[in-house]
Amino acid sequence: MQFSKFGQKLACRSGIGELMKDLAAGTGRGPVYMLGGGNPAHIPEVERACHEATERILSQSGAFEKVVGEYDPPQGNPALIEALCEMLRRRLGWAIGPQNIALTSGSQTAFFMLFNLLGGTFDGGTKKRILLPMVPEYIGYTDLGIEEDLFVSYRPRIEFVADHQFKYRVDLDSLRVDETVGAICVSRPTNPTANVLTDEEVRRLDELARRHRVPLILDNAYGLPFPNILFTDAAPFWNENTIVCMSLSKLGLPSARIGIVIAQKEITAAVAEMNAIITLTPSGIGASIGTELIRSGQIERLSREVIRPFYERKCRHALSCLEEHLKGLPYAVHKPEGAFFLWLWLRGLPISSEQLYRRLKEQGVIVVPGHYFFPGFSEDWPHRQECLRISYAADEQTVEKGLAILGREVRRLYAAG
Ligand SMILES: Cc1ncc(COP(=O)(O)O)c(C=O)c1O
Repeated sequence: MQFSKFGQKLACRSGIGELMKDLAAGTGRGPVYMLGGGNPAHIPEVERACHEATERILSQSGAFEKVVGEYDPPQGNPALIEALCEMLRRRLGWAIGPQNIALTSGSQTAFFMLFNLLGGTFDGGTKKRILLPMVPEYIGYTDLGIEEDLFVSYRPRIEFVADHQFKYRVDLDSLRVDETVGAICVSRPTNPTANVLTDEEVRRLDELARRHRVPLILDNAYGLPFPNILFTDAAPFWNENTIVCMSLSKLGLPSARIGIVIAQKEITAAVAEMNAIITLTPSGIGASIGTELIRSGQIERLSREVIRPFYERKCRHALSCLEEHLKGLPYAVHKPEGAFFLWLWLRGLPISSEQLYRRLKEQGVIVVPGHYFFPGFSEDWPHRQECLRISYAADEQTVEKGLAILGREVRRLYAAG
């Protein structure tokens, strides 16, 4: 069948599609060590809190029937918007009202809307792009443009910060912002690298964005105040020129499909209008569980006392497994500052990261090859073929075994040259 340009652009194979399919599929042979995908861990205390929140909804007369039996307005569930607004004002001191928040069906949908709202062809024919200040950047952005060529991105500076550890830094002097840029966007913490932009980097990006009158989009899927998967000090940031996107997914509710856009009114109103056209309104079920978790104070307590320490422990464990299995090899890991991934750089890897991914998949280990994480980047940079993203959200045994197999395979490859 012939598909339209829109169909050809969106109904095609994509990195994010492969990744989501890998999450669900086995390899067909033997056990699977799932170190791919972006699924959060099952944390018993978080699951208990979600259970209890749902029970409270079920026990209130008529509450469940209202949740499942009625559409919310296109801006999203008013109770969740109120609760979020109160929390963000109190906890972070942001001067926002309910008009500054719009909900979406997951934050992935929010990025689809925002990128195509602020990038693409404008009246008069000007074409604007979304500037990603550095790659590697989130794989899920790559194919979101309705038009081709929606992103422009930049190579970071690489700083070695410890033995076998490096950190990417935004090369602020190389960024070129002109009338062909419609917005600047960065994930913080960054998926896939676990980098967290410093406060100074954010301040300078904000300055740059405001100077050129384009919004700065901060993808806060892993950040403060929830799920707070941050292992370093990083101040949350918002002003009228910033669009902060959040999500209920990474704290343990990926199927709730609740994304949160915090922005000036003109943006949130546009998101609400797009919701009405694309999806009518986001899920009320996810919103009602989220509201309960916020109102009870659980979301902040769990994020601070359970979720962050849980992932920090898992991160240390995964790092020590990698160190053990890659000992003596020319590898480096990005300093893990947040999210739940290790970004592994295998320097001078004799095959591409895609080939390594396939070899590992044959042996039951699923990771994500690094070359997918370079949206809008056209430079020939061998680095993009030398990296892998490894999730450590699975249980420790899976991580341990998966990394042992990875270590063996990589050692074999280097030995064979
Ligand atoms: C950085 C980042 N942003 C956004 C998303 C989208 O998440 P969701 O649509 O579940 O809110 C993800 C999911 O992996 C992510 O890692």
